[in-house]
Amino acid sequence: MAHRPDKHMVLSIFMITAGYHYDSWTMPGSRVEELGQFGLVKEMAQKAEAAKLDIMFFGDVSSAGRIPGADPTVSGHYEPFTTLAALSQHTSNIGMIATASTSFYEPYNLARLMAGLDEMSNGRAGWNMVTSSVGHENFGISEAGSSEERYRRATEFADVVTRLWDSWADDAMVCDRQAGIWADPQRIRPLRHTGEFFDVQGPLNMRRPVQGRPVLVQAGSSAAGLEFGSRFADAIYTTQPVKEDSMAFYRQFKGLVSGQGRNPESVKVIPGIVPILGATEKEAQDVMRNLGDHVNMASGRYLLENRLEMKLDEIDLDERIPASYWQQGPVKQSKSRWEVFRHLSEDKGYTLRELILEHSRGHGHQWVAGTPSKIADVMVDWFESGACDGFNLNAPYIMGGFDAICDLLVPELQNRGYFREEYEHSTLRGNLGLERPGAWDKQPASALQA
Ligand SMILES: Cc1cc2nc3c(=O)[nH]c(=O)nc-3n(C[C@H](O)[C@H](O)[C@H](O)COP(=O)(O)O)c2cc1C
Repeated sequence: MAHRPDKHMVLSIFMITAGYHYDSWTMPGSRVEELGQFGLVKEMAQKAEAAKLDIMFFGDVSSAGRIPGADPTVSGHYEPFTTLAALSQHTSNIGMIATASTSFYEPYNLARLMAGLDEMSNGRAGWNMVTSSVGHENFGISEAGSSEERYRRATEFADVVTRLWDSWADDAMVCDRQAGIWADPQRIRPLRHTGEFFDVQGPLNMRRPVQGRPVLVQAGSSAAGLEFGSRFADAIYTTQPVKEDSMAFYRQFKGLVSGQGRNPESVKVIPGIVPILGATEKEAQDVMRNLGDHVNMASGRYLLENRLEMKLDEIDLDERIPASYWQQGPVKQSKSRWEVFRHLSEDKGYTLRELILEHSRGHGHQWVAGTPSKIADVMVDWFESGACDGFNLNAPYIMGGFDAICDLLVPELQNRGYFREEYEHSTLRGNLGLERPGAWDKQPASALQA
């Protein structure tokens, strides 16, 4: 009898409405004219929910980029909170993760936005806590600050937000009409927080969120990012194109989580993957070739320049990036993704054209072209090898690439017992198998600082 796993993968899908593969929006049949319209994301959300996916994930940035409008792929077409609040009314089980920057929000308004989304979705909200290296020019901030400083702010930010959510005991609302007591002030704790970045009196002016705390997600892989993630996150998104590296990352991260006195099982490691699917191997290779044929080498060069923080205009497409260019690492961009391309160029001998193609396909993430069975083999191997707890799925093009994930890949994983056929719970915490944290009154006195 075939092996049946005793637990299933976490599957999240990136709601990248222009398609993850750069320039796939230029293909006939793309939905590029609809970018920013509700109907498009509603259709995607409902497909993702029909496939029983755990999470739909909305990334976000607060800047139109160096050349506004140059590329629609990773752009803020959809503001996550308003979009997810609307989508919560058209879905019932799928988790909804909103990206919001600890560099630009304040803890009090972020805590309220997330608590509101958790209520509107009946316990399906999650927050991707990012620190931002771009966009400060839109917030009256002269420069982004070092990664170390941004993560210091993020740490204080997340600490204040979680304590705001915890400030109402679950039974604070007593609604005693006879006694005229709506909520018991003794069951609501102020914060009286004074820190390096924030002064927040608290308490929150909303009752405790449905999930206690909405799910916390982290997406940075630097040392400071991992430290932050291991302390707060319930899940971590990461860029891991190589299985052995992902296994090492998994062990390291779970070790850090244990070091924080937390249960490593309760934090999910979720690398990205770009499945380029076809019903047959030939069909998948044709899809990949077609996607590659649509890559605009001029904008591809520009996007790679941004990723690598290098000027590449004098390098011929069929040359390699000179070794000297790699001597200085990135200042703003993710070091781990930069390292992926350094390795391909320096160790594997990729030309600039090959690097642009690779960047267009995966943005540094693992991509696999093939049948559902071939791609499921890779995913199962990673999962069984301790390289991940699941995947963040990036559809290479919209809508066909998204449909193929939901209609071909997910059923393959379901048939093998690696993915659910029905939602087990109505909350995101429930579906991820995470506990609901207690409010201030259920925590050790040392955690309260009130
Ligand atoms: C899958 C994934 C999704 C991400 N989404 C966003 C995003 O939507 N907005 C953003 O500003 N940063 C996003 N990031 C970037 C990270 O939050 C982080 O800033 C970046 O990885 C650099 O952090 P590090 O230096 O700790 O690696 C994402 C990263 C990953 C791996």
